[in-house]
Amino acid sequence: MTDAFAFPQDFLWGVATAAHQVEGNNVNSDCWFLERLPGTIFAEPSGDAVDHYHRYRKDIALIASLGFTSYRFSLEWARIEPEEGHFSVAELDHYRRMLETCHEHGLTPVVTFHHFTSPLWLLAAGGWEDPRTPARFARYCDRAMKHLGDLIGVACTLNEPNLPWLLKELGLGGEAPERRASVPLWAAAADRLGIEASSVAPFQFTVSEAGFDIKLAAHREGRAAIKAVRPELPVGWTLANTDIQAADGGQDRADRIRREVNERFLAASREDDFVGIQTYGRTVFGPDGVAPAPEGAETNQMGEEIYPEALEATIREAARIAGIPVMVTENGLATEDDSKRLAYLRTAVAGVASCLADGIDVRGYIAWTAFDNFEWIFGYGPKFGLIAVDRATQERTPKESAKFLGSLARAKVAQSV
Ligand code: BGC
Repeated sequence: MTDAFAFPQDFLWGVATAAHQVEGNNVNSDCWFLERLPGTIFAEPSGDAVDHYHRYRKDIALIASLGFTSYRFSLEWARIEPEEGHFSVAELDHYRRMLETCHEHGLTPVVTFHHFTSPLWLLAAGGWEDPRTPARFARYCDRAMKHLGDLIGVACTLNEPNLPWLLKELGLGGEAPERRASVPLWAAAADRLGIEASSVAPFQFTVSEAGFDIKLAAHREGRAAIKAVRPELPVGWTLANTDIQAADGGQDRADRIRREVNERFLAASREDDFVGIQTYGRTVFGPDGVAPAPEGAETNQMGEEIYPEALEATIREAARIAGIPVMVTENGLATEDDSKRLAYLRTAVAGVASCLADGIDVRGYIAWTAFDNFEWIFGYGPKFGLIAVDRATQERTPKESAKFLGSLARAKVAQSV
């Protein structure tokens, strides 16, 4: 049975991007460097991406014209501080213009201060296992806030600090420091940077207890720097929260992974103003690892089961453990078939409505992603966008799913299940 559900008037309806995935030519970042090394695990380099750096005005106008009320994007630390201690006012001005454009179009800017990429100098200086990194991050947050803070609507410090622990369980990286020299990419990076392979610690691929402590400290020091400029600004971090389930015989493994990947990060969020939840599906663990998708299940472009019901489960998990407001800062589907995305969004939003109907404080639903873009190690293959981009001409074409979600944003009503 379905009922029409009225969303709160101030509920944010948005789409998200991350600087490196859309801007293009992020040449001072660690990712740009890693994309080009011998032994790279990136399918292709990011290059011009979708040239959002130059096209942001029209892009933001297009997002607003579809009916959305919010735009989540990230500041690129590697542009703002291309050399340690040198802050570029010209780049800060660029982001100020982006924020002003959001306000001109009535969009609340949800701003991520760190979305996976770091300046290359940070990687060379020990990256996300170096004890000096929290203070470096906080200094950057302070500079960015003093230049941009008055225009920011919601601040997210770090994006998916827990992702490497999830990737490790999926068999994607996460080597212990002493084993990094055996991985061609980390060996090549160490060689080029003139450091030990054990010290190569990029944000998305580093799994170690030191890495956990440093990310948590960076989040807290970054939050304090942001609050020092604007105490009332909502600040949180955004987590990769897959719905972790157990297949036969997999309960212990699933419970351990849920604690390590989801619960300890949610528990660490308790002092924040909100926690950002980023959910794409479920991950089912059997006794020996990830269980295959059920027979006959529809799959996304990466071969994973399409399971939009996961969002409701992870919102409930987050609210229960963190005990603070929740904001959906990413949710979406990689598919060439937009009708599948539309059906996915419909179910996911119904899950949000059910949570709200039960009194859970959900502040917004921000879909991943505005444009087909650079999907990290997978390159430009996966299509998560609500707006298609022809990268030869950079022409943008909204898909039906964009119009559907934009119309919900206008109506502020959706079905609950
Ligand atoms: C990240 C995005 C990414 C998306 C889809 C999240 O892990 O924050 O940058 O593109 O998932 O894989």
